[in-house]
Amino acid sequence: MPETHVLRWVKDGNALKAEAEKRGYRAEAQWGNAEQAQQNQQIQSFLTQGAKALIIGCLNDGVGSVVAEAARDKVVVIAYDRLIMNSADFDYFITFNNFKVGQLQGQGIEAALNLASATTAAPKNITLFAGSPTDDNANFFYDGAMSILNPYIDKGVLRVVGPYPKTHADGANFQRIATEGWQAPIAKARMENLLNNDARNVTLDAVLAPNDTLARAIIEACKADAKYRTKLPVVTGQDAEFESAMSIKNGEQYMTVFKDTAKLAEAAILLADQVLKGQTVSIPGTVLASGDLAEIGNTGRKYVNTYLLDPIGVTRSNLNVPVDAGFYEDAEAARLR
Ligand code: BGC
Repeated sequence: MPETHVLRWVKDGNALKAEAEKRGYRAEAQWGNAEQAQQNQQIQSFLTQGAKALIIGCLNDGVGSVVAEAARDKVVVIAYDRLIMNSADFDYFITFNNFKVGQLQGQGIEAALNLASATTAAPKNITLFAGSPTDDNANFFYDGAMSILNPYIDKGVLRVVGPYPKTHADGANFQRIATEGWQAPIAKARMENLLNNDARNVTLDAVLAPNDTLARAIIEACKADAKYRTKLPVVTGQDAEFESAMSIKNGEQYMTVFKDTAKLAEAAILLADQVLKGQTVSIPGTVLASGDLAEIGNTGRKYVNTYLLDPIGVTRSNLNVPVDAGFYEDAEAARLR
């Protein structure tokens, strides 16, 4: 797994190990501490120990060299949640529909700001943030959200404060709104900077935040600004982290996207099991990415077989969904009910 500063990966690694052991495998999980070099060492050591399959949530395409080694050793490699870019040395990717994750964020803003009724006389104001430029998921999250928001921006009823890449393909502007390594302090500093500069003379109605870790950092920056003391902008998120679920319950963060990572881990181990046994792959609860969605599995060198789980948008009104799915510890669930 890539990192521990975003909580989900801690759960993902533990769930993968448990699911593999349930199926009778010997399994080991390690976390790369947000450093691709460190993760490569971990992977190399797994190869030396004779691993038959590697399930990798990578940091960036620097993982390609060890994936090539694995391919030479005929070790099964599954890209987990994040695609391994610029590699043709593996065949499988299991993740969520990442374009839909973004659409759910965009739709959250659309509903909360009632954009359908907004006018050019009184346009709404938004600031845009994206995830790490080294993570292909960040592109899909952003493009999904903007597929909902761009029509309102074009109509002049939604105004962007700060840089405005229409899609991630506008690399120069995307770089300006991206958050290297998904690091909260970077998003917080950028938000503080915006509040003191581009957003100084406007009141922001919404902030597109790509995940919960960054959403909370953005909210923290807003809270320190007198203008937002009584009413925060609508802030989106992703991962249904407990702290963000509490923030939603308390009326601060507006929404999150629930991705049931326990199901992702279960599906990834089933996939590994079927591939190792040479069986036909069939993963319940997923769809094989095809049509436009096939791009989610495009490494730039090849299209890998990509299995997608379905994400769910969560606001205060359906906070029970991740709770009822058993996503939280009992004590956490009790606080969320
Ligand atoms: C994952 C998100 C996560 C982000 C930061 C993305 O690749 O899909 O769930 O919030 O990385 O770790």
